[in-house]
Amino acid sequence: MKPLVKIENIGQTFNTKSGKFTALRDINLDISQGEVVSLIGHSGCGKSTLLNLIAGLTLPTSGVLLCADREIPGPGPERAVVFQNHSLLPWMTCFGNVMLGVEQVFGRKEGKVKLRARVEAALEMVHMAHAMHKYPHEISGGMKQRIGIARAFAMEPKNPVDGRALRCTRCPDPRVLAG
Ligand SMILES: Nc1ncnc2c1ncn2[C@@H]1O[C@H](COP(=O)(O)OP(=O)(O)OP(=O)(O)O)[C@@H](O)[C@H]1O
Ligand SMILES: [Mg+2]
Repeated sequence: MKPLVKIENIGQTFNTKSGKFTALRDINLDISQGEVVSLIGHSGCGKSTLLNLIAGLTLPTSGVLLCADREIPGPGPERAVVFQNHSLLPWMTCFGNVMLGVEQVFGRKEGKVKLRARVEAALEMVHMAHAMHKYPHEISGGMKQRIGIARAFAMEPKNPVDGRALRCTRCPDPRVLAG
């Protein structure tokens, strides 16, 4: 089967105060549709750096990243990210945080009722419907992570990218790339 995501000879070098730092070198990886891939390695080995590249949040110093045969130019609705830190907006409720992602992808073509149903379904998927009107500071760390997962999945991406360990998520959907 042709890979959906293709990573070819990726290198990532950062400019730091003490000079250039190479975080990734010669990385090659093919990911097929529906495949679940775990990146396992010690802290600082480059897992998040690679996930950020697949998500299109950063561009590689060398090499090529393709998704569906097209070079990844930046973030896109076909690649959602569950960040290692939860990245929820503190002034919005759980419902509002998930709605933010849903509106970005479906806001132009669907009405409010449908958008609301999408958010509620995503919150139910991570067993957080009961807390939809709570703010991030009112819920636990694991619950924040589940809201982040709900936001990513509610956008119905082809490739969910999870930048954190899965152990505390209780996420029932296995289509997650974990770093
Ligand atoms: N923007 C940056 N500038 C400089 N160095 C960076 C930058 N981002 C990451 N690094 C360095 O690149 C290396 C890989 O970092 P990365 O965040 O990818 O690690 P990780 O494998 O996700 O680690 P963890 O398991 O702790 O989350 C680390 O040494 C880190 O300090
Ligand atoms: Mg990381």
